[in-house]
Amino acid sequence: MTSKPSVWVSRPTFPDVVARLEPHFHVSAEPEETKFTSAELAAKLAGCDAAIVGLKERVGATELAAAKRLRIVANLAVGYDNLDLAALGAAGIAASNTADVLNESVADYAWALLLGASRRMGAAERWLRAGKWHATEFKGWLGTDVRGRTLGILGMGRIGQAIARRAQGFGMPVLYHNRSRLPEATERECRASYVGKATLLRESDCIMLVLPLTPETRHAIGAAELAQMKSTAVLVNVARGGIVDDAALAAALREGRLAAAGLDVFEGEPRVHPDLLALDNVLLSPHIASATTDTRRAMTSVAVDNVLAFFGHGPHAGHPPNLLNPEALAAAGVTFPPLHHFPTHQ
Ligand code: DGY
Repeated sequence: MTSKPSVWVSRPTFPDVVARLEPHFHVSAEPEETKFTSAELAAKLAGCDAAIVGLKERVGATELAAAKRLRIVANLAVGYDNLDLAALGAAGIAASNTADVLNESVADYAWALLLGASRRMGAAERWLRAGKWHATEFKGWLGTDVRGRTLGILGMGRIGQAIARRAQGFGMPVLYHNRSRLPEATERECRASYVGKATLLRESDCIMLVLPLTPETRHAIGAAELAQMKSTAVLVNVARGGIVDDAALAAALREGRLAAAGLDVFEGEPRVHPDLLALDNVLLSPHIASATTDTRRAMTSVAVDNVLAFFGHGPHAGHPPNLLNPEALAAAGVTFPPLHHFPTHQ
């Protein structure tokens, strides 16, 4: 006898979106945000055929050791540094992300951080709330304009390109650096010029980081890179903590070697480096660049689509649209939908 496969959803999302799974799966969705230990996560993964997980679930060989039924892990994020793709591939387990649906929201938020940090919005609001506003000073709270200044984008994937397109509205020339140069037509559309990393750091007034976190990009911005930037520059990170050496950044901000920063992500988050918390010239937020209702719903929908497609259902049946490890699956002989019979779940 066979029964429906089961899907575990690691965090509360949008029940009406997740309900699309119900005709085909037993769905078990966590009712509350929970930080699972590695052992708890391993137990959850051992009990399902598909998992929809978030960034705080770090899935590696240890967590997969007992996951004998697991066929797909759908990440609720475009970044997937929480997934060990080698371990998933070796186990013949598919991995997917939520590429594309969050590009515009994240690009908007990067601009919000750039403008907010340049115009000192965080510190000014704290000052007002502390009841310190007794008179309006003509020379109080002076910030810097972004209009006409040079924007440097490090990491020019689809989010970087969405950021670049917005720069036209601010009359800002755009420099970018990326692993590979973009096609000419895309450069033209983004009005962005390809430069080496050192040139970008040296010549940009505003620098936005949109790189994935990998062993190669860890501390891509450290003390040496900060030393190459203008002391008037503003740095924004909407990518991942760990790309920036937070201690070195705090020192540069404290010592006036960098004007300001806007940070949505941190090394070791949710912990924030205490030196950053002590500074007024950094605008901080809790990893929310993609957090709009529409975008988080769309991200949930993409994760659901990938699970459905993997098991042969929905508009992409048999072709999960955001697979991260197709080569590893092909090498492991994995087929969509999986050709096994599901055990009866008691
Ligand atoms: C992503 O999708 O990678 C974001 O950082 C999480 O919202």
